[in-house]
Amino acid sequence: MKTIVAYRSKSGYTKKYAEWIAQELGCDIKEDPKISDILGYDTVIYGGGMYAGGFNGVKLITKNLDKLSGKKIALFAVGSNPGREHEMKAFWDRVLTAEQQKYIGCFYLRGGFDFDRLTARDKVLMKMLKVKLQKTKERTEDEQGMLDAYDKPVDFSNKENIRPLINFVMK
Ligand SMILES: Cc1cc2nc3c(=O)[nH]c(=O)nc-3n(C[C@H](O)[C@H](O)[C@H](O)COP(=O)(O)O)c2cc1C
Repeated sequence: MKTIVAYRSKSGYTKKYAEWIAQELGCDIKEDPKISDILGYDTVIYGGGMYAGGFNGVKLITKNLDKLSGKKIALFAVGSNPGREHEMKAFWDRVLTAEQQKYIGCFYLRGGFDFDRLTARDKVLMKMLKVKLQKTKERTEDEQGMLDAYDKPVDFSNKENIRPLINFVMK
């Protein structure tokens, strides 16, 4: 079975998970893939960061499901949120229909946040969010955690997190 891990990563967290997965499976890996890069594989694993509730680059998969039919597909989203079940369910419901979720593996792998590694555009966006958070009087735990992360990068990535995805691909 030919397997590929394809991914898009802005600040390196998804890249790290993709490399761990490729190493574990001994499979090919491709950054910033095009559809032609993944069609020749039996199993396609796609990973991308979560940005404003979206999934970086996942349209490569969701817009091409007809071309990918018959392949085993697993998706992994990498964000800085703690991965609460109801929040991740809402996320996956925006990405895939209930029917698609029955055969596509959906995994959340917690990444981190490093302001210095953001693109210029994302720095502007995140500075705006920072001002908003600073003005918020009663911050939630997540909001406070986010605010703290501007000064001190956080990294929750852990190789063990890939285990359920590896099991899905191997079974
Ligand atoms: C502009 C911006 C928006 C973000 N939105 C979310 C989000 O909606 N949910 C989340 O969990 N993390 C969010 N994050 C955090 C990233 O998903 C996190 O840093 C992730 O590890 C990035 O992975 P990457 O570096 O591989 O792209 C956001 C980060 C930025 C810069």
